[in-house]
Amino acid sequence: MSKSKALAFIIAALAYYSLFSSSPKPHYHSLFLSSSFSDNASVALNLRTLTRRPHVAGSAANAEAAAYVLSTFSSFALKSHVVAYHVSLTYPLHRSLVLTPRDSAKPITFALEQEQVGDNPYANEVTPTFHGYAKSGNVSGPVVYASYGRVEDFVGVNASGAVVIARYGKIYRGDIVKNAYRAGAVGVVIYTDKRDYGGDECFPASRWMPPSGVQVGTVYNGLGDPTTPGWASVDGCERLSDEAVELAGDSPQIPSLPISAADAEVILKTVVGDVGPGPGILNLSYIGETVIAKIENVIGVIEGEEEPDRYVILGNHRDAWTFGAVDPNSGTAVLLEIAQRLDKLQKRGWRPRRTIILCNWDAEEYALIGSTEWVEENREMLATRAVAYLNVDCAVSGPGFHASATPQLDELIKQAAQKVQDPDNTTQTIYESWIRSNNSGVIGRLGGGGSDYASFVQHVGVPSVDMLFGGGYPVYHSMYDDFTWMEKFGDPMFQRHVAMASVLGLVALRLADEEFLPFNYVSYASELKKSAEDLEKEKLGHGIDVSPLIKSIQDLYKAAQGINIEKEGIKGALKVREVNDRLMMAERALTDRDGLSERTWYKHLVYGPSKYDDYGSKSFPGVDDAIDNAKRLKTKESWGHVQHQIWRVSRVIRHASLVLKGDLR
Ligand SMILES: *[C@@H]1O[C@H](CO)[C@@H](O)[C@H](O)[C@H]1NC(C)=O
Ligand SMILES: *[C@@H]1O[C@H](CO)[C@@H](O)[C@H](O)[C@H]1NC(C)=O
Ligand SMILES: *[C@@H]1O[C@H](CO)[C@@H](O)[C@H](O)[C@H]1NC(C)=O
Ligand SMILES: *[C@@H]1O[C@H](CO)[C@@H](O)[C@H](O)[C@H]1NC(C)=O
Ligand SMILES: *[C@@H]1O[C@H](CO)[C@@H](O)[C@H](O)[C@H]1NC(C)=O
Ligand SMILES: *[C@@H]1O[C@H](CO)[C@@H](O)[C@H](O)[C@H]1NC(C)=O
Repeated sequence: MSKSKALAFIIAALAYYSLFSSSPKPHYHSLFLSSSFSDNASVALNLRTLTRRPHVAGSAANAEAAAYVLSTFSSFALKSHVVAYHVSLTYPLHRSLVLTPRDSAKPITFALEQEQVGDNPYANEVTPTFHGYAKSGNVSGPVVYASYGRVEDFVGVNASGAVVIARYGKIYRGDIVKNAYRAGAVGVVIYTDKRDYGGDECFPASRWMPPSGVQVGTVYNGLGDPTTPGWASVDGCERLSDEAVELAGDSPQIPSLPISAADAEVILKTVVGDVGPGPGILNLSYIGETVIAKIENVIGVIEGEEEPDRYVILGNHRDAWTFGAVDPNSGTAVLLEIAQRLDKLQKRGWRPRRTIILCNWDAEEYALIGSTEWVEENREMLATRAVAYLNVDCAVSGPGFHASATPQLDELIKQAAQKVQDPDNTTQTIYESWIRSNNSGVIGRLGGGGSDYASFVQHVGVPSVDMLFGGGYPVYHSMYDDFTWMEKFGDPMFQRHVAMASVLGLVALRLADEEFLPFNYVSYASELKKSAEDLEKEKLGHGIDVSPLIKSIQDLYKAAQGINIEKEGIKGALKVREVNDRLMMAERALTDRDGLSERTWYKHLVYGPSKYDDYGSKSFPGVDDAIDNAKRLKTKESWGHVQHQIWRVSRVIRHASLVLKGDLR
């Protein structure tokens, strides 16, 4: 080949490359995943530092943890700042629980203390066990057992005037208190049952909860600062009075306390049989103090080179009920590991196409407050600019990968899981282990209120994902969720943390770097079809017609296929951007400004929490609520409302199709 021919060949090859490589940065993405970029030692060090002391929201220790995250972000060349809010939090002032058994004149007073079993020097700094936002008061009544405290657990149980004892495990604890109140109870104690959380041996010898261990947690039924519903708790803002907060209806109506398996055993001995009022009398007293406390979200930004006004947001909370080794700082350690690898990439010359924002939220435990206030403050910016939100909370508590997402992200998540080795079986990828596991590669949905994705999905309609290794773990929200537990049982080599950083980070990189957003709405249509078919199978009668919904989903399917094909032929930065905007905004189209009836803050009409279990994700929550009402009221009007809700969902799905098509009619 002559020199000029060789040159021509090179030019042609370069032109070919720039024309046909839709993803110009795969080189950096493999670097991100390489072993030289991952660092389990600094994951362990960060987790140890973050979990040294208990750091409940509003405490000095949590402010210290915020300063640590801020300085770590800054050391990784992230443009970092703190967004502070002043919000209403509660702490316990007085607690007592006294049992008067039938045959004994002598009442038993419970200590309500978790035993110090390890050698954690800061165990004495743990907040006394309580429920966040619990109602203050002194109550007494006969003990009544109500299993998991679900609506069905109260059927045939006379809880009227009783103090209910229920066990944790199936539904959100705030809903246990609500259900008990509706059944006529005057107070509730919720315990950690050995059948669900205990083994033969317990921590520190094994991973199980010690008998004195207590799961604390919030019992509030809303999201965000209770004194600023729907708007951000910024300086000088409007605030509801205590009475107005009470009237808003998300606060518990009867006092409650979390208790240990050991205390529950004593109480349950006085209950005759499995259900029905027992002869023991419980006197429960809880007095809390409500304070307006400062909380701090720590934000770190890497500005996008080509599309700085498009945001890929990663988030995790920092505040913990106790030490927070799993919940949430395994997630914080993952976030910092991602930040470190992105710093290394930048040193090799990489810049993202779109802006990447790392968020370390505060006061999640109380009511997803830090993220909710931020989303409420930035609602319009997020609605017009946020490409996706990637959440990680309890990132690691054991082996086994789990993911939940809005369905246009399903394919991307699976592809990322195919690129990373399973930390527990080096002969296969995470994806292979995942599809062979009990959950067989099924991706959950994000209708529930379990973590900080809730405001992004349910209030604004931002495509989102939440990932974890392990799932439920026995020392959850107890003082034993500390670094020792993690080092011994959760992730002894810190390789699960590293693998989580790889999967989540790769999803973020592809969203931030690829020319076309890697969203596939065909998956969304298939998922909606399943939900609609489930609704059809209910055979509701009363003239209910599901066909408008089915039709709208068929249209979405076509629109989703259409944009996938259209992408192939598109050239030119502005045209690419226009297609991407449609892909970004299609999720937004599933929200409705009026929101769910009687739960109007929830704007998403496809994914929202179950009315009876805030942790439960529902498809078509508005339809579900209406069916529930109609079954109770049995009136023509209430069945008409069901049909109206079906129409509303059909209409937002139709809006999503129109957005994907980009047709102005
Ligand atoms: C509630 O009971 C505690 C003792 O258990 C007592 O100190 C307090 O005064 C009582 N409060 C009310 C309002 O009765
Ligand atoms: C339910 O329990 C309360 C309190 O023990 C009692 O007064 C009431 O009679 C009981 N009601 C029924 C229907 O058993
Ligand atoms: C429990 O409360 C009831 C009603 O206030 C009271 O009569 C009783 O003495 C209390 N029992 C104990 C052991 O404090
Ligand atoms: C690891 O993966 C291989 C398949 O690649 C499988 O045969 C083996 O059983 C797995 N090992 C464990 C311990 O799960
Ligand atoms: C998977 O399911 C089987 C059968 O239900 C159960 O015995 C096993 O413990 C499960 N494994 C995990 C890791 O949950
Ligand atoms: C990091 O991983 C390596 C290899 O898996 C292991 O030998 C080392 O102990 C781990 N480091 C920590 C801090 O766990």
